[in-house]
Amino acid sequence: ELTDVSTLLLSRIRDVADYPEPGVMFKDITPLLADPVAFEALTGALAEIAVRTGATKIVGLEARGFILGAPVAVRAGLGFIPVRKAGKLPGATLSQTYDLEYGSAEIEVHAEDLDAGDRILVVDDVLATGGTAEASLQLVRRAGAEVSGVAVLMELGFLGGRSRLEPALGNAPLEALLQI
Ligand code: PRP
Repeated sequence: ELTDVSTLLLSRIRDVADYPEPGVMFKDITPLLADPVAFEALTGALAEIAVRTGATKIVGLEARGFILGAPVAVRAGLGFIPVRKAGKLPGATLSQTYDLEYGSAEIEVHAEDLDAGDRILVVDDVLATGGTAEASLQLVRRAGAEVSGVAVLMELGFLGGRSRLEPALGNAPLEALLQI
């Protein structure tokens, strides 16, 4: 059963067939971002998860995780840490590679932005295979911080990301506002 907020959010996500390749239904969040009521509802719901799970900082995953994670951090009164694709951060980084369907990817974080006492909420738009979120949790733990949870707008359940993420989550929750 969908709540009013879920119904609003779902109504502002545009399905784009055959993007970025044939057979894929892309979930476009730009209509949601363009609607101030829906965008405020989204960042409010994610900020509530940050507060409820006792997060001390927000990690956002490039690129759409930046758009969502930064206002969530401000609303929750927390700092924001970008996890970027390899080669974009100028300082001393921790990096993590992870497997894609074909090939691999690498993400990085500034090590000094994560402290041993931190509890990190990872924010992104979509959990698909879970590879990106899993790698981000590995970065958080390697930096000595704890995980307060992972919060996403959408979970694409048919791709099995939740199972992949479980070991890295430990006891921390994966919270998805929408199940697709
Ligand atoms: C998308 C999405 C998540 C990730 C989810 O990002 O925004 O970060 O993929 O996929 P996964 O669960 O299978 O890892 P993308 O790599 O397209 O980057 P972008 O936001 O910079 O376009």
